[in-house]
Parts: sequence; C-alpha cells; structure tokens
Amino acid sequence: MKILSVASELFPLVKTGGLADVAGALPLALAPLGITVRTLLPGYPSVMAKLTNPRKIADLPALLGEPASILFVKHADLELYILDAPFYFDREGGPYTDVTGLDHDDNWRRFAALSLAGAELANELDPNWSPDLVHVHDWQAALTPVYLKYSPRGAHIPSVITIHNIAFQGQFSPAIFPELSLPEDAFDVAGVEYYGDVGFLKGGMRTAWALTTVSPTYASEILEPQFGMGLQGLVAERVEDLVGIVNGIDDDVWNPATDKHITQTYDASSLKKRADNRKALCSRFGLTPGSGPVFCVISRLTWQKGIDLIVAAADFIVENGGSLAILGSGDPALEAALKDAAAHHPGRISVIFGYDEPLSHLMQAGSDAILIPSRFEPCGLTQLYGLRYGCIPVVGHTGGLADTIIDANGAAISAKAATGVEFTPVTAEGLIGALRRTFRLFAEPKTWTGMQKAAMKADVSWASSARQYADLYKTLLTKVHKP
Ligand code: ADP
Ligand code: GLC
Repeated sequence: MKILSVASELFPLVKTGGLADVAGALPLALAPLGITVRTLLPGYPSVMAKLTNPRKIADLPALLGEPASILFVKHADLELYILDAPFYFDREGGPYTDVTGLDHDDNWRRFAALSLAGAELANELDPNWSPDLVHVHDWQAALTPVYLKYSPRGAHIPSVITIHNIAFQGQFSPAIFPELSLPEDAFDVAGVEYYGDVGFLKGGMRTAWALTTVSPTYASEILEPQFGMGLQGLVAERVEDLVGIVNGIDDDVWNPATDKHITQTYDASSLKKRADNRKALCSRFGLTPGSGPVFCVISRLTWQKGIDLIVAAADFIVENGGSLAILGSGDPALEAALKDAAAHHPGRISVIFGYDEPLSHLMQAGSDAILIPSRFEPCGLTQLYGLRYGCIPVVGHTGGLADTIIDANGAAISAKAATGVEFTPVTAEGLIGALRRTFRLFAEPKTWTGMQKAAMKADVSWASSARQYADLYKTLLTKVHKP
C-alpha cells in the first residue's frame, strides 16, 4: 500500500510541535506493516539545507501563479517529496511566522499551494509513483482533499485528514477565494465556505473520506462546543467517519537507555542513575533543589497549556520544598509572569525561553515530574516522553492526557498500575490539589519508584496505533470503485 502524507512540519527536518514528531514517526511505524509512506513537505530554507541529493521529479510552472518544483529525496529512512517553491517558502523565520514572530500574511496562499501540490501528486504527477490514498495533517494540508474533490477526476482515491488541534483552523477572508484556483461551486457548505469565510480545516473535514484525531477522548470532546471551537456541528455530521487514534512516540529517539542528549543513560532497573541527570539539569537551570520533587515544564507557553495555572501554583511548589525548571516560549504575558515567578524564587524556579530539543531530553531524564495542566490536549507527547523516562506526568484530565495516564488513586497504586497524577477541573485549585498529592507520593520513595517503573513499562510505542491507521486505510481502500 502506498500513502502520500502531506504535512507542514516533520521531525527531524523542521519542528514547532507534536505534529512534526507524528509526521516523522508514523511512516517508520507503518513500514513494517507493508505500507510505504512518502511525505510532501514545504522546502523551507532549514529543510533545503539538510537534504542530500534531491532529485527533481516534476515542475509546477504556475502553482497558484508562482513557479514550483517537486523534489524527491530520502532522509534517513524517510521518503520525502519537497515542494521547492522559493516564492512561498524561501523566507527567514519559522514555518508559519516571520523573524518577529508574526504570522506571514500570505499563509493561506503558502499552504493552499502545499495542498494543491499534494492533490497533483495524488493525481499522478510523479510518473513513477502514485499513492493509493492521501493522508493530510491539520489546516495547512487540509485543502488537498478539497482540490481532489473539485478536480476533473474527482476524489478518485481515499483521503484521511488528521486533526491534531481543532483550535487552529486556517480561517480566512472570503476575498482570498478567487485566488485559490477552485471552481466557484467550492465556495459552499459542501466545500470551503465557513460562516461566510474560507475555512481550510473545515473544507478538509467536509471533503476527506475519513477524519481522525490524535486520541479517542479528544474525538468525543470535539463534539462539544467547549472543545469543538465552532466545528462541533460538522464533527457531529461526520461522526461515523471519525476515529481517535492515540499518538505513539519514536522509541529510538526517546530512549533513556541510549539517549545521547542526557548525562547518564539508565533504564527501569537502574533508576538511581537518574540522579546524575537531575544534578546536570539543576546546574543548567541554576536550581538548588529542596526536599521535594524537581518539576519541569516543556511547552508552548499558551492558555491551552494552562501555563497561567503553573504561575498561580508557583508559591505552593516552593513552599512545599519543590523546584521548577521551565523550557518554552509563547505568549509574552505568560513569559513575563514566569519571569516574575523565577525572580521571586531564585534557585527554586528557573525559566529558559526558547526551543532546545537536546535540553528537553535532559529535562525528561533529570526531573522527577513533568507538569502538563492543559485545558485541552488533543494528544500531547511530553507526557508520553515522561512515561518513558520515569518522569511522572501531572496532567489535566482531558484529551490524550486522560487516555494515556493512569491516576495514582489508591486502587491503581495497590495494583501497581499508577503512572501519573491527574486532576479535574483544570483550574489553579485543581492543580494545587494534584501537587499536594504529588508531594505526598514523592515522600514515599517505594510508592514513587513503583510509579516510575509502571510508567516506564507503559506501552507508548507506535505499534498498536500504526495498526489502527493501517486498518483504517484498508477499510477505505475497499470503498474505491475500480473502473
Ligand atoms: P503541541 O504540539 O501542542 O505543542 P505536544 O506535546 O504534542 O504539544 O508536542 C510538543 C513537542 O514539542 C514535544 O516533542 C515537546 O518535547 C516539544 N517542545 C515543546 N516546547 C519545546 C521547547 N521549548 N524546546 C524543545 N522542545 C519543545
Ligand atoms: C497538536 C496537539 C497535541 C498533539 C500534537 C501531535 O499540536 O496540540 O496535543 O500531541 O498535535 O498530534
């Protein structure tokens, strides 16, 4: 089976969040099941610089009016199509933002171009390889099934759209519609029209053959207005075609026994060795820990992630002997609040602003617990890394966090099944209650070590989720009408 995946980021070439990890790891997990995935990715400068021997396979002389080419390249075990379109992607800054951190104002055009290139590849642009099915990720790739539906051939192959976060919808003024190179009838509820605007994610959710989200709980949450963010009606209409499949992790990249980014490797039978990582982490952050746990946060600093709740709990953490190491960047007001908290508690709370992949590994290997008080979390990956590294997740009971963490209640502890601490409602009081329980658990070394061992045993691999994607693909392929 041949799958074309379309994504705006992919680890290890370009990453701003969990989408990259999933887009990079899922193809590797599907390979042993006899499924070949080729991923179409924009040719950002950082991507172009890392490619060896890319080969041009086609020209698209006027992709939404601008010249582009499709390159094919292998990178490690990944097979990639690169959309080489300097007008759209040869820019400084991140994949979506300029150097000042603002969204490019033509992101709609840049990602419509990516989606259209995806549809061209699905329509046999590469004479030597054409997919049986297209799998697109998030709003940036969501127009691919729309372009297929409205192409002269129609949607002749199945398409799957994975919603990694329904909060990011790609909603734009109707003024852009004439520039999208879609027929007029696509500006309709059956196409991209969304409350009078153009909705990229909406269009993809309307036209893809199947929808997935990255956890079963999130799949049911987005039926509710609180989580569906305006799209809950469409989710309800398509609920028969929607499935939640929890993300896995790349257990070669995230393996404490072999990790090159950490001071001391270890496994579940040598947990004492974590102490060296804890020391290295504290020295990196300038922390002098008290008697309680060293907590970490590795996150986009946003409302979604409940960072304001961490600020509200900062005094409680320190008063109870805890320390806190934070790595992230995001909302300037939250950054300022964290900076204040660190200034109030020198040596006990410390923040590093920025993005640092190697440091994130050391934090998982050296902290006692990771705080993830998300208000919503489609899946979440940092709790899965925490499990693998014996860094106990303290999480809000929502989305993928609810699906992957077993709360340390009395029954779970007796059964040696507890892997973390969960709380609801996701409020400052809720978080403080969870922290109070965490301090108690940490003070009982046997219980704590038992939880670490259970966490490290939890299956966070891609194996079972890859099988679920494979089953979905197979089911969709049975629906194709062969001429
Ligand atoms: P989201 O995609 O919503 O941001 P996830 O938990 O799914 O949340 O994925 C976040 C990914 O980005 C994880 O791999 C996490 O380790 C990584 N990450 C987040 N912030 C940073 C940072 N400042 N430095 C390094 N890695 C980070
Ligand atoms: C999104 C979600 C996150 C999820 C990631 C990968 O960024 O916010 O919860 O883990 O996608 O699917």
